[in-house]
Amino acid sequence: MPLIDHLLASAAVRKKIWQLWYPFLTRRLQRDDVLFLNYAFEENPPRALPLDPADEPNRACIQLYHHVATQIDLRGKTVLEVSCGHGGGASFLTRTLRPARYTGLDLNPRGIAFCRERHRVDGLTFVQGDAEHLPFPAGAFDAVVNVEASHCYPSLPRFLSEVARVLRPGGAFLYADFRFNSVIPEWDGSLASCPLTLRAQREINAEVLRGMNRNSERSMQLIVRHLPGFLHALGRDFAGIRGSRIYNAIERDELSYRSYLLEKR
Ligand SMILES: C[S@@+](CC[C@H](N)C(=O)[O-])C[C@H]1O[C@@H](n2cnc3c(N)ncnc32)[C@H](O)[C@@H]1O
Repeated sequence: MPLIDHLLASAAVRKKIWQLWYPFLTRRLQRDDVLFLNYAFEENPPRALPLDPADEPNRACIQLYHHVATQIDLRGKTVLEVSCGHGGGASFLTRTLRPARYTGLDLNPRGIAFCRERHRVDGLTFVQGDAEHLPFPAGAFDAVVNVEASHCYPSLPRFLSEVARVLRPGGAFLYADFRFNSVIPEWDGSLASCPLTLRAQREINAEVLRGMNRNSERSMQLIVRHLPGFLHALGRDFAGIRGSRIYNAIERDELSYRSYLLEKR
């Protein structure tokens, strides 16, 4: 195995890379007010989700959050989002689904500083922290939201046990992410053996592909504007541009993008 593959196989090295990559992105993308870092979602036919005009440019990314978070009614609930990124989803869900309190957490300190400055919404706060060591007491939340981030964590079982710890009994884990086919048995195994009960699971490859198509042009403009040439291929993958490696993998069903509802026992 080449040295680079050995290095990337190490969870600690992968975590270090994310710790450098996301603050690097925030420094550039905040200039263009980029509020979402996910591959997006669109149903067929598209859902007529009513949006404020200011949210309209982010429709496809918002639709992913809406799909995941509306699996239960969040009104009046105390919600934690782990890996809130640039906070666009946290702001949208707090404004529209009316939880009592919504806390967005992310490992990226620059992203959290951006969120605090950018999203001033009643009931919404942001905290810097690690998905595997959540800085909250047991049973503090009615629901935990997690969108397209768990593939970054060194240990999914460690994260799931933290989710179970901070949820009250009966609390909901509203979750979406993707895995390449080779590691799906491990993903399924972690979910089956964690202290949460699976209530719903859906493959959303077709919807994510439509979301990527919808966002490709805008994402490509951001890549050209903000990334040096040698990072363009990486940026195309990261953003899920039409024809990128990740886009093709979804199209060929070489990976599975799924949404889940799990419940704390
Ligand atoms: C693809 S982005 C998704 C962000 C956001 N959920 C969205 O949809 O826009 C992944 C996020 O995971 C965060 N992340 C990576 N490792 C983390 C960790 N160990 N703990 C908390 N957040 C982490 C990154 O900083 C980044 O904001």
